[in-house]
Amino acid sequence: MEFNHVSVLLNEAVDSLNIREDGIYVDGTAGGGGHSAAILSRLTTGTLYSIDQDPDAIATVTERFRGDSRSRIIEGNFGDMRRLLNDVGVEAVDGVLLDIGVSSHQLDEGSRGFSYHVDAPLDMRMSQSGETAADLVNTLSVGELSRILSLYGEEKYAYSIAKGIVRYRETKRIETTLELAELIKDNVPQKVRRDGHPARKSFQAIRIAVNHELDVLESGLQGAFELLRKGGRFSAPS
Ligand SMILES: C[S@@+](CC[C@H](N)C(=O)[O-])C[C@H]1O[C@@H](n2cnc3c(N)ncnc32)[C@H](O)[C@@H]1O
Repeated sequence: MEFNHVSVLLNEAVDSLNIREDGIYVDGTAGGGGHSAAILSRLTTGTLYSIDQDPDAIATVTERFRGDSRSRIIEGNFGDMRRLLNDVGVEAVDGVLLDIGVSSHQLDEGSRGFSYHVDAPLDMRMSQSGETAADLVNTLSVGELSRILSLYGEEKYAYSIAKGIVRYRETKRIETTLELAELIKDNVPQKVRRDGHPARKSFQAIRIAVNHELDVLESGLQGAFELLRKGGRFSAPS
């Protein structure tokens, strides 16, 4: 599998961890392993724990760091970071990096259902488990949908889009990305259609809801600060 992702602020983010060559580090969002590789390159006897909830990312970093005794890979959610580290006997670390968001791989791989440009089953789950975007848009009430679109997407036409979604699904379940993108387009004023893709904000909002991104960010930050030892560093490039 090809995993395309250009790491954000690679050197700046890793520099800011002030890495000790014998330290213990966590990359909570391993993705294609760009930041992890930069951290590993600065360790001698230290250890890096690379976490991701996406099985595609885990397969990529497992392959990329195969045979590197400084590397440990953990499939899981960084919201559970403290437990995941405690489970492998780690109580304190010297640095944590979180490069939050979606990877280019997730966006570009049409079949993952994150993109409003490529037709695919409406999925958007980073972990490839749990409720899909299709489950959400086909079951939530107008009020709940409108709140999600407004809160997580700052979508001005949240209510109109939510009403359009609920009206549409009375006749047919919404199954694909382009079906939802067209539906959103049909429920915003003409002028919005000229200002970037009209589905951009709604897709972002639904992705955040599907992956519970704000809830896990809160627990992830708490876990990171509980794990960091005195003088430890936290870095968030995105
Ligand atoms: C922006 S990419 C990271 C790219 C990575 N820094 C690199 O250099 O290749 C974000 C990654 O974080 C993962 N991710 C997002 N939220 C997560 C969470 N709550 N727990 C674990 N992984 C998460 C995604 O699956 C994705 O692979």
